[in-house]
Amino acid sequence: MITGTGISKTFRQRGGVLGAREVPALRDVDFAVERGGAVSFIGESGSGKTTLGRIIAGLETHDAGEIVIDGVPMSSLSHRRRQPYFRRVQLIHQDPYSALNPTRTVHQALEAPLALRARQTGRPRSWIDSRAQELLSMVGIDPGYVLPRYPHQLSGGMRQRVVIARALTMDPEVLVADEAVSMIDVSLRLGILALLKDLRERVGVGVLFITHDIATARYIGDDGELYVLYRGQVVERGATEKIIADPVHPYTQSLLSAIPVLHGLERPGAERVVPKEPRGESQGEGRTGGCLFVPRCPFSTERCERETPVLGRDGGPDQETEQEHACFHPRRRSVIPVGVGE
Ligand SMILES: Nc1ncnc2c1ncn2[C@@H]1O[C@H](COP(=O)(O)OP(=O)(O)OP(=O)(O)O)[C@@H](O)[C@H]1O
Ligand SMILES: [Mg+2]
Repeated sequence: MITGTGISKTFRQRGGVLGAREVPALRDVDFAVERGGAVSFIGESGSGKTTLGRIIAGLETHDAGEIVIDGVPMSSLSHRRRQPYFRRVQLIHQDPYSALNPTRTVHQALEAPLALRARQTGRPRSWIDSRAQELLSMVGIDPGYVLPRYPHQLSGGMRQRVVIARALTMDPEVLVADEAVSMIDVSLRLGILALLKDLRERVGVGVLFITHDIATARYIGDDGELYVLYRGQVVERGATEKIIADPVHPYTQSLLSAIPVLHGLERPGAERVVPKEPRGESQGEGRTGGCLFVPRCPFSTERCERETPVLGRDGGPDQETEQEHACFHPRRRSVIPVGVGE
């Protein structure tokens, strides 16, 4: 089990006429991923998804909050002693080209981490080759074909499968898949998603799935949890199916309305939520206090301008919504014509 509590991160960005500015990438985020579980984070570009994935994998520091892996708070350990724990989390990058060293064969790419694993678990060196073959078969590729080959000799889909096999060499508890299919040919995406789903069952690995596409989040974790990130804040959280069927935060509603086809959920155009355009970036960022979504929300009131809604405290879970949200006016909405929402 891997949990995060109150994870916050602010980046300082240099430059511009205003000099350095602070960009809050994550605001007080809580999460939990279990073995075999599926947790999806969804949000638009810049919402903090990659930052969160990197923090969970130990590749980025955070300013506040605690990551607990297998019951051990990471803050209690020295940097060096954290490393074995963070190996329990393996990151799968969106670009399988850059994730693999072009000068090494697949055999070489798997051999190094497996040699480490063999040492850690007291296995003989002969185990390395058989395990490499086993892992490649597990991700659905022919070991005899790929082992002697270089990354450029493989298709994008195969490369991503090799990346997943390499992540599995460490027997991780959780795979963090950050837009793992976005750079793969559309025809091959479903195969990779099906593989991740299958690995949850077969190997018992948890998947933390990061995406801007709610349809893929739904596919990978229809039985799992969905977290909706908006500008670094989780604004809605609950069972994936529940949220997709019944989103209550206006931001989630707008994300869902952008899906062209989602079988069983399509509604006529007039029933979709289309929030207003932001009233201006500067106004949105410069405000202190108040709901972060106000600049784009067609339903905001004076209270939303003044007070900041907190996930779980100000919204749900209640009987009507079941999921938690950070909204003062959560509602099942069906008729929200563009521009007439107020
Ligand atoms: N190393 C960094 N230095 C400064 N700012 C950063 C850094 N990394 C991320 N940010 C900022 O933090 C915010 C969140 O970025 P992040 O990459 O986590 O978003 P994301 O949800 O993954 O976006 P995308 O969908 O485009 O991948 C953005 O405003 C980004 O500009
Ligand atoms: Mg990203």
